[in-house]
Amino acid sequence: MSKFAWVTLTTNDTYSLGALVLAHSLRRAGTAHQLAVLVTPSVSEAMRNKLKDVYNVVQEVNVLDSQDAANLALLSRPELGVTFTKLHCWRLVQFEKCVFLDADTLVLQNCDELFEREELSAAPDVSWPDCFNSGVFVFRPSVDTFGKITEFAVQHGSFDGGDQGLLNQYFADWATADIKKHLPFVYNVTAYASYCYLPAFKQFRDNIKILHFAGKLKPWLIQFNSETKSASTPSEYAHAHDLIQLWWNIFCDNVHERLTDEMQSHGAVSSDNLKKPFNEEAGLAGALSQLRLGAQRTPEQEQYENLMRRQCWESGQIDYAGRDSFDNIWKKITQTLDAKPAKEADKTDNTLSYNQLLTQTATELLHPPTSEVSSPSLSSSPSVRSSSSSRAVPATNNVAATEPAASSKVATNKATINTPKATAPQPTRQAQPQTSQVKVEVQSQPQPPPPSQAQPQLQSQTAQHIVQSPNGAPVAPSRAGRQRAMRKFK
Ligand code: UDP
Ligand code: GLC
Ligand code: MN
Repeated sequence: MSKFAWVTLTTNDTYSLGALVLAHSLRRAGTAHQLAVLVTPSVSEAMRNKLKDVYNVVQEVNVLDSQDAANLALLSRPELGVTFTKLHCWRLVQFEKCVFLDADTLVLQNCDELFEREELSAAPDVSWPDCFNSGVFVFRPSVDTFGKITEFAVQHGSFDGGDQGLLNQYFADWATADIKKHLPFVYNVTAYASYCYLPAFKQFRDNIKILHFAGKLKPWLIQFNSETKSASTPSEYAHAHDLIQLWWNIFCDNVHERLTDEMQSHGAVSSDNLKKPFNEEAGLAGALSQLRLGAQRTPEQEQYENLMRRQCWESGQIDYAGRDSFDNIWKKITQTLDAKPAKEADKTDNTLSYNQLLTQTATELLHPPTSEVSSPSLSSSPSVRSSSSSRAVPATNNVAATEPAASSKVATNKATINTPKATAPQPTRQAQPQTSQVKVEVQSQPQPPPPSQAQPQLQSQTAQHIVQSPNGAPVAPSRAGRQRAMRKFK
């Protein structure tokens, strides 16, 4: 058995979809090494079983959350406090050396040579190349290193509220000390267009070894047509359409078959569930399990796909150039308005009804008359001007992370972190118990949530550590706060 392993992390059934596709991409690339996944208590039993099919090790760990709402806000990713959970990878001491891969990465070619590198090797981050991106890094498991990094986290926090800021602060000489620790960019290519240097993407595309879907829009959130098994790539990913399609091909070939609707139970596509609003990422794995691939869509499936599309729209993922284009939106508006009877207003006077005026304006905008005469424009039509436009608002449900009490400890590391809790929502709609303690302890068994009578005490402990600015907005935890928290839970 190889002493080397690829390691990833998933804290819910949706990121687990990424972890599954990633594992199969590693197998397809013919890796000789083992695969390990860290899962937190909120990953369902059904999903863990599925992960066990392809991962050699499925290790449950506690959620570690930076609870640093202020710095996470700078990153516009409030949900990423839980990426501190990655630190548990240093506890996989049964392996000599590992490569951590985010669950939103896709391995396109064999990269086993990465295990020749030393800790901490990583590729530059596209947005700030003197920092490394922590979606792919080589490390040596060590309980000692784990203790030092968590202690460092308590002392210094993270400048981005996630693991990347923390690890860059801890491995602070990465930028300058040893060029061998700089992985070539092909080991961590950011797929999203606004981060991407498109001419280079085109030029070096075939050299890419690991693609990273960094950013909010993950492949599993991209519109997918179950009948044709094709992904509708939004414009931000147009250059990488075939690679997104590859993610979905692996999903169809290796992952879909054994998904079940027990995966985050809200996922089942029953007519009852279809009536409920679809929260961000909730129950996606369970819902996808209900799709019949390559077959004509049932009305329920169509309804499900429409809901997915709406979910994408509401979380800001809008296909401006395709299905959500201006033309299509106007068409839909006019169809809807035409279907409704004219209002009372046009019976009492001879001004055009609101509906008619909108329809007329839309028609004229879409098919402008050849002469300039009497062409209403958006700005000259009072009715249109006064109509309110709806802005796409990211849908979050702000359910906080699970943190069951740890009781059976594999190792006796003393460090426990309790950093101030502000808002650190996790993108899952499963209701989860919550405590303020973020214990840096690996669990050997899934633990039940703490008894309800323990909650008030835990909540008051949390309250002591919440740092609020004078105007009530969350601020980064202070060093004193972190130290206090540390003393309290040592
Ligand atoms: N992650 C997770 N659950 C979350 C958020 C993140 O399991 O709710 C893990 C997952 O492995 C993910 C990694 O942490 O790939 C980093 O988050 P993400 O990839 O979303 O960050 P990005 O690369 O987009 O900055
Ligand atoms: C990044 C990395 C990701 C990390 C996150 C939070 O953009 O891609 O791996 O978890 O920042 O620090
Ligand atoms: Mn990522």
